[in-house]
Amino acid sequence: MTKENPTDLKSVKESTYFVKPDLSEAKKRGKSTVQVIPFEKLPEGMQQIGKGKYYLLKTYGCQMNSRDSETMAGILETMGYQVTDEEKVADIILFNTCAIRENAEDKVFGGLGRLKHLKLEKPELILGVAGCMPQEEKVVNKILKSYQHVDMIFGTHNIHRLPHLLKDAMFNKEMVIEVWSKEGDVVEEMPVQRENGLKAFVNIMYGCDKFCTYCIVPYTRGKERSRRPEDVIAEVKELAKLGYKEVTLLGQNVNAYGKDLEIDYGFGDLLEALRNVAIPRIRFTTSHPKDFDDHLIEVLTKKGNLVEHIHLPFQSGNTVILKKMARKYTREEYLQLVSRIKKAIPDVVLTTDIIVGFPGETEEQFLDTLSLVAEVGFDSAYTFIYSPREGTPAAKMEDSVPDEIKKDRLQRLHELQNRISREKNEALQGKVVEVLVEGESKNNAEVLSGRTRTNKLINFRGDKQLIGTFVYVRITDPKTWTLRGEVMENPEEDKVHAFN
Ligand code: SAH
Ligand code: SF4
Ligand code: F3S
Repeated sequence: MTKENPTDLKSVKESTYFVKPDLSEAKKRGKSTVQVIPFEKLPEGMQQIGKGKYYLLKTYGCQMNSRDSETMAGILETMGYQVTDEEKVADIILFNTCAIRENAEDKVFGGLGRLKHLKLEKPELILGVAGCMPQEEKVVNKILKSYQHVDMIFGTHNIHRLPHLLKDAMFNKEMVIEVWSKEGDVVEEMPVQRENGLKAFVNIMYGCDKFCTYCIVPYTRGKERSRRPEDVIAEVKELAKLGYKEVTLLGQNVNAYGKDLEIDYGFGDLLEALRNVAIPRIRFTTSHPKDFDDHLIEVLTKKGNLVEHIHLPFQSGNTVILKKMARKYTREEYLQLVSRIKKAIPDVVLTTDIIVGFPGETEEQFLDTLSLVAEVGFDSAYTFIYSPREGTPAAKMEDSVPDEIKKDRLQRLHELQNRISREKNEALQGKVVEVLVEGESKNNAEVLSGRTRTNKLINFRGDKQLIGTFVYVRITDPKTWTLRGEVMENPEEDKVHAFN
């Protein structure tokens, strides 16, 4: 495809910028130690290339993708680009994509299709596809075949290469593809343009080595690579200095933090160090039950800026299914872990992820999932119907559960979880909680909205000047998914109930 006539078949440049993904390569876990490298200077001619121009970033998927988008935004802004949310105004449109389930991918293809007319009207527009989807061969082949108006495809290990890829896409007529299948290095000092001025995401590790049989992430994100503790701590200190009130430490499996480092240092040690940094709140996601050790529990009991909320996906309540999922724990081990956590942190709030309709799941096995939900009493849950991902072991298992049954199971799970969520929230009636005031409520500018330490959304009336501060709010009207309350003028007398 040439820029003059974007409907021509786009030729693909056979150069450094043509590296296609390979899922079988992505599966290999190299033994070599990961290098930590600094972000390179911008290439010749790219320093001010974006002056007076606009970029639009569409982000799909998890918090890690959101954080990656903040890096892409940072890189584009160092080249002079400004953000826009209008497609027509944009000179660059980047889709940062997610491959976790089929419907996530369908949304991206739908979005790319809709942009074809815009590319015809404005041939100099650069349209890029980034993130987890390009890590799959079938996706790159599909774009090459049916979405030739795309200019640039790059993967999760190639984000720091954006200035080079962009330069090539702008000055050559061919589609630029650069997707490294094997994990890259840990790149430090990358520019970042954060979305939010109060709450920040901080990567502590990249990749995943767990290989749950249903999951594409270990292929799209490479092997586990921890950032050095000193780099993470320095970033959090800097955020505190900039006035941030909360950080969320990110990793697919944060409890495995440090296992790949040459020093004896784990996630518990990292939290212990961050406890002493002047940032009011620290969250983390996601915890895998397997690596949740007693040291970590002990550190979390110290509270302070370590909030009492743990997102602890269990996926299935049946040990046979868990084994087929390769989750590496049994139902009983999960429940034992939960009781250890609850004993150590009595006011802990637990949330989870659950998959229904895994290949071969029987009614009895599903009932084990329902009973586990009831037994633990999660405050909320993300629930999914199993979606086969090509290249993963589960995709080859016989899937005998009809769609209707899967939908029915999801529905029954929702009903149970909603009832529990409501009960949990109703138990907070009259309590006073510490709230970070985040802004005006989405539906009503008269009302402020914020989050409790346990990450519950709470709405209340109050002065806009409170935005960005912590207040104490008495809960007056708990609902299933949100709370309503009133700001305490004199919270001292109610302090006993604080920190819920
Ligand atoms: N690393 C995290 C999860 C990341 S993916 C963890 O292990 O906890 C987020 C959630 O998506 C998973 O917890 C799982 O519930 C769901 N998920 C992953 N692959 C899926 C698939 N193929 N079909 C349906 N849900 C899936
Ligand atoms: Fe996927 Fe399992 Fe890794 Fe989570 S721990 S990202 S579910 S493979
Ligand atoms: Fe999706 Fe990739 Fe995250 S597949 S869930 S964006 S790691």
